Amino acid sequence: MSVDADVIPLARPVLGEEEERAVIEVLRSGQLSLGPRVPAFESAFAQRLGADHACAVSSGTAGLHLAVRAAGVRDGDEVVTTPFSFVSSANAPVFERARPVFADIDPRTLNLDPAAAAAAVTERTTALLPVHIFGYPADIPALERHGLPLVEDACEALGAVHADGVAVGGRGHPAAFGFYANKQLTTGEGGMLTLGSGEHKLAIDSERNQGRAPDMGWLDHDRLGFNYRLSDIACAIGLAQLDRLDAMLADRARVAGAYREALAGLAAERGLGLPCEDAGGDRRGWFVFVVQLPHDADRDGTIRALRELGVQSKPYLPAIHLMSFYRERFGHRPGEFPVCEDIAARSIALPFFPALSEGQIARVAEALGRVLG
Ligand SMILES: Cc1ncc(COP(=O)(O)O)c(C=O)c1O
Repeated sequence: MSVDADVIPLARPVLGEEEERAVIEVLRSGQLSLGPRVPAFESAFAQRLGADHACAVSSGTAGLHLAVRAAGVRDGDEVVTTPFSFVSSANAPVFERARPVFADIDPRTLNLDPAAAAAAVTERTTALLPVHIFGYPADIPALERHGLPLVEDACEALGAVHADGVAVGGRGHPAAFGFYANKQLTTGEGGMLTLGSGEHKLAIDSERNQGRAPDMGWLDHDRLGFNYRLSDIACAIGLAQLDRLDAMLADRARVAGAYREALAGLAAERGLGLPCEDAGGDRRGWFVFVVQLPHDADRDGTIRALRELGVQSKPYLPAIHLMSFYRERFGHRPGEFPVCEDIAARSIALPFFPALSEGQIARVAEALGRVLG
């Protein structure tokens, strides 16, 4: 994203000499794909999260697709999920001709409300697909009580930890992470699935690689597959990023803390909604800093005015069920999921990345204060 020098951008990755060196090493090795960096990145990632297995994939969306398939979701099945997410969590079941059945969100965490999810389960439900939105742990233990397969969208949640100390993505359900450039860890594009099942690992390794079993010849394919591979170049960047992950997560947490302080006045006096604080032992892996504007604020006007003051922001996230594809395909209408619709209509993402300085945070807070009056 190219912006004027004095505009504070929404996101900026941390990349340095380690990533450069790692990429050059791969280029010099001549093995750009299907090489040793792939299993090395997978093992390091799995180990970090306490997961039994991991599969590197070309994107978070590719990971969600393969996870939905591994969960046994088929034509005509229903998958209970949240309407407040990036669109690909709902699209993944649709790729398999299943129906995403939305349930409303918890107004504090903005994650799937377990009671609403329970009410949406039918005899056709074959899986639940919670999303750890904005890096805050979804209530997986409550959703596990249905005894149905779970697929976790952890694309925004690297570094998040559940109340019992298990890392998000470490509970054994297929969990998809995304490595797009705004994420906690980036490989440019890319993703990782963490898994508890060795059988899933074998099936997914094959399906991401055109349906080829590991012991098969180059052009032998014994199942339907895709090209969802992650290159060795990307995995090398991922390994370098893993080495600096703790520092990047700590910086993100520092920025979030500074925002919370800088915006406390606007929250108290103007009704600005801030991201929920960690509670009950759950810990957020900071990905974005999304605020809900007061009900009387004009969101588009706010975003334009912030831009004029040198601050990038964007609406984040729109309600999935109100997108035209979902309205047309599944007949959704406004009013079905009131908590999600209210939050989605008022949310904006503010600039958020590890190197954001105290001065820039103060500028953002001051600009927002001026715009909201
Ligand atoms: C919640 C969520 N799910 C899925 C994705 C998709 O990840 P990718 O862009 O790597 O396909 C994203 C990425 O922005 C996301 O935020």
